[in-house]
Amino acid sequence: MSLLFAPVQVGGVEARNRAWVSPMCQYSCERQDGIPGQWHLEHLASFARGGAGLVMTEAAAVEPIGRISPQDTGIWNDEQAEAWAVIAERIRAHGAVAAMQLAHAGRKASARRPWSGHGTAPADEGGWQSVAAGADAFGRFSAPRALESDEVAQLPSLFAAAARRAVDAGFEAIELHAAHGYLLHQFLSPLTNQRDDEWGADAGGLRVELLRQVVAAVRAAAPEAALMVRLSASDWVDGGIEVDRTIEHVRVAAEAGADWFDLSSGGLDPRQEIPLGPGYQVHFAREVRAATGLPVNAVGLIDEPAHAEQLLAEGDADAVMLARAWLRNPHWALAAEAELDGEAAASVWPDQYTRARQHR
Ligand SMILES: Cc1cc2nc3c(=O)[nH]c(=O)nc-3n(C[C@H](O)[C@H](O)[C@H](O)COP(=O)(O)O)c2cc1C
Repeated sequence: MSLLFAPVQVGGVEARNRAWVSPMCQYSCERQDGIPGQWHLEHLASFARGGAGLVMTEAAAVEPIGRISPQDTGIWNDEQAEAWAVIAERIRAHGAVAAMQLAHAGRKASARRPWSGHGTAPADEGGWQSVAAGADAFGRFSAPRALESDEVAQLPSLFAAAARRAVDAGFEAIELHAAHGYLLHQFLSPLTNQRDDEWGADAGGLRVELLRQVVAAVRAAAPEAALMVRLSASDWVDGGIEVDRTIEHVRVAAEAGADWFDLSSGGLDPRQEIPLGPGYQVHFAREVRAATGLPVNAVGLIDEPAHAEQLLAEGDADAVMLARAWLRNPHWALAAEAELDGEAAASVWPDQYTRARQHR
């Protein structure tokens, strides 16, 4: 049996295997109401049917101005939660863990969706004034308004309420999006957090107080959920986050109640120079896992089953997340299991599809 298709424990939840779906925005709420629709249902259910161990939703915003684009989903009201409940039920019915990523886009909010142009969406396209740790703009985006101290203090309760709604809707795992230059990452990085209040640098310069409080609030609001955190382990810019600092952030978040860490990188600063290539972020997972002993997943250009199996065997990570490979083939895990486990491949194949397990 391959390691990729061995079960793994995420907090109090068991995933049937370690081939997971990474969060992917679909920018597909045409009414700009944050309610997931038929597209989201078909999209996410297909990966669960295709054998994934865990299916993560796209970044669901914890408040309207936290959406990346006007067409993003949210989880700040009951109508959204009802629509998400149908999706969570289908993911679980196909045997995968239903997981939701919670996010606030901060200064990268109010963006045009990728196929509708670049930069900030103007008001007549549904755009809004963004907010952030500071007042500096991201690239060509409109400048955000810096949040007041008392406004920052409200953020943990927004994430907590969203997490409670998600769990009540049937999600078994929650991931906090603290990567890719979105609001929680903006508070973590010295490049974007120069605040001199309690949300700025602490004695160790870690800037981790907001993340700590968000993790603690979500843990308290949804004690039964597996709690994951996605971090950018490098800003890929001088003076930004590097993996040593991430290891400290991970320790603080684990102490506050997080169960699992998802190691990505970049997205904060347009000056970033990322050495792209197969598994280019795997070393972050390896370093965090080795330093903390906590469970992690690797993500980023891990497209081949043999590559995923090898990095698990070498102890780099406890699971892998893939994004674009699932878009190319929603049955990625069915094919991967047949490739790695041959005749023994049975754990994820639906009975209806078994005749396709062998080519002949
Ligand atoms: C269409 C698309 C949408 C994405 N949306 C999100 C998102 O909502 N949240 C997130 O953390 N990452 C998002 N990502 C990044 C992926 O989760 C993943 O980290 C990245 O694509 C690298 O993995 P891959 O090489 O397997 O595609 C997105 C990627 C794609 C391709």
